[in-house]
Amino acid sequence: MKEERVIFGNTPVLDLSGLIPKHITNREQLNEWEAANILKAERKLLTQRRKLPFDTAFILKTHGFMFDDTWNWAGTFRKFDVNIGVPWHSIQEQVKLLTDDLLSWEMQNTFHAFGRSVRLHHRLVKIHPFVNGNGRHARLISDVYLYSRNEKPLEWPGYELIDNSKLRERYILALKDADAGDYLPLERFIRRFVPGKIRSRLLKTHIERA
Ligand SMILES: Nc1ncnc2c1ncn2[C@@H]1O[C@H](COP(=O)(O)OP(=O)(O)OP(=O)(O)O)[C@@H](O)[C@H]1O
Ligand SMILES: [Mg+2]
Repeated sequence: MKEERVIFGNTPVLDLSGLIPKHITNREQLNEWEAANILKAERKLLTQRRKLPFDTAFILKTHGFMFDDTWNWAGTFRKFDVNIGVPWHSIQEQVKLLTDDLLSWEMQNTFHAFGRSVRLHHRLVKIHPFVNGNGRHARLISDVYLYSRNEKPLEWPGYELIDNSKLRERYILALKDADAGDYLPLERFIRRFVPGKIRSRLLKTHIERA
């Protein structure tokens, strides 16, 4: 793969030394291969309802499930700094803080499950624990969280959100508002992906609690 297309708000994949399939020569092939790997993870995590422990081990394991056929660093934290995210040596501590916060939101019933999933998603991408795949990982983790708490996973738009598009632009802007502590734009943005039938019930409860 000679050149990397720059996608707004994405970690560029420049180091291909960890790539497991040796036949991949371009970005389209890589996208396809990763998508198949991720589908396998979704089948594992979104088919059997269980109350899962959202701890550091599970955060790592999920990334491993998603990219284990693709990258030899799947399921491990990055060991260098990238353009987005906390310094690499703070990752362990920041992920622990996040999983502790999630636990305390649950115990104190802070936010609806949807609000918790949005915060979990944002905090994960803000930390950016992995070399790559942070967006897809955080979105799947938020779905697994909803699913394991008896809610429906979201209907993410797939490639339109991943490639350069108006939708992605709005997504990144909403993430930046969340970086600054304002979660409303991100909640509004993600709300449109809540499955239709339960959207009104979820939003009603969510607004009542706000
Ligand atoms: N300013 C920001 N604050 C928080 N998160 C951000 C910001 N900019 C980008 N992100 C997140 O980082 C993700 C990109 O990181 P990375 O390239 O590691 O993930 P990916 O899964 O490969 O990409 P994608 O999400 O585009 O599929 C974006 O999807 C978004 O979720
Ligand atoms: Mg990326």
